[in-house]
Amino acid sequence: MPEKNTFYITTPIYYVNGAPHIGHAYTTISSDVVARFMRMQQRDVYFLTGTDEHGAKNAEKAEEEGLDPQAFVDKNTAQFQMLFDRLSISNDDFIRTTEERHKKSVEVFMTKLQESDAFYEDEYEGLYCTGCEKFITQKELVDGLCPDHKKKPEVIKEKNYFFKLREYLPKVKELIARGEMKVEPESRRKEILGLLDHEVLDDFSISRESVKWGIKVPYDHSQTVYVWVEALQNYISALGYGHNDEKFQSYWPADVHVMAKDIIKFHAIFWPALLLAAGLQPPKKIFAHGFFTVNGDKMSKSIGNVIDPNELIDTFGSDATRYLLLSQFPFGQDGDIKADKFLEQYNADLAGGISNLLHRSISMTDKYFKGAVQEKPETHLIDVSLVKDAISEYREGFENMQIDHALKQIMHLVRHGNEIIEQQKPWELAKTDTVALGYVLYDVLELNRIISFLIYPFMPEAAERMQIALGVTYEEHMPFDEIIEWGTLGVGTMISKTEPLFMRK
Ligand code: MSP
Repeated sequence: MPEKNTFYITTPIYYVNGAPHIGHAYTTISSDVVARFMRMQQRDVYFLTGTDEHGAKNAEKAEEEGLDPQAFVDKNTAQFQMLFDRLSISNDDFIRTTEERHKKSVEVFMTKLQESDAFYEDEYEGLYCTGCEKFITQKELVDGLCPDHKKKPEVIKEKNYFFKLREYLPKVKELIARGEMKVEPESRRKEILGLLDHEVLDDFSISRESVKWGIKVPYDHSQTVYVWVEALQNYISALGYGHNDEKFQSYWPADVHVMAKDIIKFHAIFWPALLLAAGLQPPKKIFAHGFFTVNGDKMSKSIGNVIDPNELIDTFGSDATRYLLLSQFPFGQDGDIKADKFLEQYNADLAGGISNLLHRSISMTDKYFKGAVQEKPETHLIDVSLVKDAISEYREGFENMQIDHALKQIMHLVRHGNEIIEQQKPWELAKTDTVALGYVLYDVLELNRIISFLIYPFMPEAAERMQIALGVTYEEHMPFDEIIEWGTLGVGTMISKTEPLFMRK
């Protein structure tokens, strides 16, 4: 069977109990970068993001604000959508769990699980943390409080339906061990296999009696589907699973679910187990990036270190915000963000790097050759093998979900271009050797052209502006190998002057 050309990528659906912060922006931007890269590889991409709108956590916040839960989630979801628009997120779909299409799929899925005898009823008594939206054990508490939310858990005693998780664990383990469902990076795979080996993972409750804000269990309306079980299903409900499932047939199983490590257990163990129980295929890959702190501390309102992504966009613009967030630490590892480093880095890499390279190349071509690209040199001044190596590293970066590695290759090329200009001093050649001058400018313009394509997944607006300035066009059907082939810039192409891509600040 020919390999499917589709590529289905998802972000977590975010809780809307507050405004979006840079953690949400980080995951969504990184998934967008991968989605855009895959589109450049001519993959038929379906990129999904969205919001997790049910559950006790959202309901409690709505009550605090004196709003009806639907009005509350509408208001906050709009903030996520606005932010993603401002960040040029190219999602093909945005799922909200309060949508009718989600409810329909959830009902079909839950009925399927019931029919396959995956549930049993039991009386449950335990501790529930609404911050985590999960049951926690006495052992996990620190001074009687949930260690993550510093909140006293609620004591719950109610009738629940339980999912026979234990029955499916051997199969989940086999999927991971055989690489049929990849869990990346490797450290996370080990963590999950360790959990499967050592932690006694127990059957878990898939419904709640006392929570009303949610979707009713189809065969027992006294129960609401547990918010996590419902939320995970967004990945199939967005594809119309169970009622309008053309997209489901094309795109499922997902190529990759992207998230941070905080929710990997839900995705790498519970989700595939539920899918197996319903007779559906598990996702192909779960990728968990790291968790970041801000100025050394966990982001929190009380510490006052929460960074509003909208403020970053106001200061630096959308592309630069994308760049600054992704370039702080390796994707997949934990890291620390220091907001006061952003300005320095913006000026060095973007204003002084990419923008400077384009503008000096363009203005010299304008000044010395009235904007026309000159003959190609026989032997290049740019180190073409260095360019080729950087491109193959860039590709490898994407293949391994190391998008920061791909990003570094671009900066490497930018530095190389600026160095060549410094070494060749075109302004001196202009007085002595215009042929040699034309060669230098050809090479640096060509390097700019290649950079414009490589930066497209990361900084789509800058990429487009570079291409307009360089007189080149890009259409999605153009094969990647061809567009990044060295020497494609046509002799005689007219460049046009443009405002700096990134103004020094
Ligand atoms: N609603 C659930 C997810 C359901 S998916 C079926 C949820 N929502 S959340 O709003 O808490 O989002 C968690 C996700 O936000 C993390 O997995 C990560 O993608 C992102 N991040 C939130 N804070 C972050 C950091 N400090 N660092 C990195 N990513 C962060 O969990």
